[in-house]
Amino acid sequence: MAKRSKKAFYITTPIYYVNDVPHIGHTYTTIIADALSRFQKLLGNKVFFLTGTDEHGQKVEKAATERGLQPIELADQVVGKYQDLWKAVNISNDFFIRTTEQFHEKGVQKIFKKLMEKDDIYKGTYKGLYCVSDENFLSEDVPLEKGGYKICPDCGKRADVVSEECYFFKLSAYQKPLLDFYAKFPAFVRPPSRMNEVVSFVKQGLKDLSITRTTVKWGIPVPDDPDHTIYVWFDALHNYLTGIGYDWNMELFEKFWPATVHLIGKDILRQHAIYWPAFLMAAEFPLPQTVFGHGWWLKDEKKMSKSKGNVLDPYLILDTFGPDPLRYFLLREIPIGLDGNFSHEGFVHRVNSDLANDLGNLVQRTLIMIQNYFNGKIDETDKEEKLDKEIRLEFDSLKKKVLESSEDYALNKTLEEIWAYINSVNRYLAVNEPWKLVKDQSKRKRLARILYQAAAALRGISYLIFPVMPESSEKIWSFLGEAKPIQEKTFSELKFEDLKLGQKIEKPKPLFPRITLKDFLKEEETEPSPEIKEEKMEHITFDEFKRMDFRVGEVLKAEKVEGTDKLLKLEVDIGTETRTMVAGVADVYTAEELVGKKFIVIVNLKPAVIRGIESQGMLLAAEVEGKATIPFFDKDILTGAKVR
Ligand code: MSP
Repeated sequence: MAKRSKKAFYITTPIYYVNDVPHIGHTYTTIIADALSRFQKLLGNKVFFLTGTDEHGQKVEKAATERGLQPIELADQVVGKYQDLWKAVNISNDFFIRTTEQFHEKGVQKIFKKLMEKDDIYKGTYKGLYCVSDENFLSEDVPLEKGGYKICPDCGKRADVVSEECYFFKLSAYQKPLLDFYAKFPAFVRPPSRMNEVVSFVKQGLKDLSITRTTVKWGIPVPDDPDHTIYVWFDALHNYLTGIGYDWNMELFEKFWPATVHLIGKDILRQHAIYWPAFLMAAEFPLPQTVFGHGWWLKDEKKMSKSKGNVLDPYLILDTFGPDPLRYFLLREIPIGLDGNFSHEGFVHRVNSDLANDLGNLVQRTLIMIQNYFNGKIDETDKEEKLDKEIRLEFDSLKKKVLESSEDYALNKTLEEIWAYINSVNRYLAVNEPWKLVKDQSKRKRLARILYQAAAALRGISYLIFPVMPESSEKIWSFLGEAKPIQEKTFSELKFEDLKLGQKIEKPKPLFPRITLKDFLKEEETEPSPEIKEEKMEHITFDEFKRMDFRVGEVLKAEKVEGTDKLLKLEVDIGTETRTMVAGVADVYTAEELVGKKFIVIVNLKPAVIRGIESQGMLLAAEVEGKATIPFFDKDILTGAKVR
């Protein structure tokens, strides 16, 4: 077989069951794959991104019967829902595979036959348990419940007792080859904790695997023995071969196989990290480079699933906010290997703080100043000064960091780095105060330089966010007068200084309106909204009010107070001096995101010692159910300015 060229990047998502409509969990996997695939395309690599649907098996058969439909009718309906959703979230897959398509069925049968001929498959009888929900054969060690039945230890649903003639795959013969393979390629399964899980499972010994069913009609018939249908996992895993042309477009297949990364949820690790490489070894295919098991989105601390009734419909977010806030939130909020709890407050906070405040404001103020001060044109500048150069060099180092983390699949880190830079550029503007320079005619070129640096930085930022937020990225790119699509410029061609003098800049349209919990879901109706309690008011006089010294404080440094979840230690510039303050906001804001931010502080409150630190002031924040929301300013404002 031809060797995959180094620059070919083949990424897959699991193929989704069609027993029900997609939810946020499925959307998450597909968005990660989409962003990684878009990033690789920007690098100029040859990329193939495959997703699709897993349509056979008992679970789908059962769901169709319950709805009075033929399995294929249900599949056709649900496939449409997946395809519509992928369009709505801007998924740019290169192919969508359905396992009911003929080319797939033929490919699977061909491999099945090959394994029969090699004696890797033999006929026998399976006696044991079967979990329809997971489509999993279970070991018999599962204890009996009080009601006299058994429960699937993975999903908690009732499992069927099965006794039927079937074909087995000689999985036991692959225990040693698998362990050797894992030892040689420890990054085959990522993150490393998942690799450890897999190795210890395989070390305990592998039983042969039943790979056909006689009691399930909805499946690919076994070649020459049509009373048996092929087990849905054997069928489904092979989509990764047939989806890039195995047996019908071998040129395409040879270009992309083996896969660079199979992206999966951690629930289906065993199938991908044990069965799949064993099937491939048996059929003599090269093995994929990586199986990446990401974490779960939880709701109310439980895995989202239809049966628990805690799934989140992606349209409840998409219909109101569009695809980019959802894509950003899902990728930014949790590191790829870990679980995360979905909260509406968390979503609102991310959108307002990162998108509306940080990025949205940078776009608005930079482009509006260019409109107002230079008639919407990038004007001739003076030479770079120290801070100008720093902001340019910081972009070069950002590019390196983005490359490293995105190639490592750590998109949350990529976004963190980009946002740190956005905050640097916001700070650069705050320090240089172009809105003041405009009053001095002799500083025109200096003013032009500052706006050039900000616009060039923004242009770079808009490029780098493309994989995660393609729609907003393209908008900012075109506001900046770039005529060619982003994808035509490769990552290595992207240069800060490529923003042309004389370039026409468009008037920006607002990108990320601020949102509130109320804008959120209709679903909220089922959740009680936080109550605002009426408190008895006592009047104070204006003189009493005047005694309070409120000022605009700017955070210079922030760090978590060790041993606490909620406290941050802040160094706050109050215009005349720097004060240390301890704020109980760490459950909502990270230290990094507060650096450079300005908000209202009261500076003549009697100091208090909190956790051994003297807090010399207090920031103002709204509080709902114990969570703080800090009111930030909608315009840049002088540090130390009085607030009254
Ligand atoms: N059909 C199999 C996969 C076959 S792949 C050859 C299957 N399908 S599924 O519809 O149940 O989708 C499973 C995948 O959806 C998970 O592996 C995961 O990638 C994603 N998710 C489903 N629920 C999820 C969460 N709550 N959170 C994150 N992702 C989850 O298993």
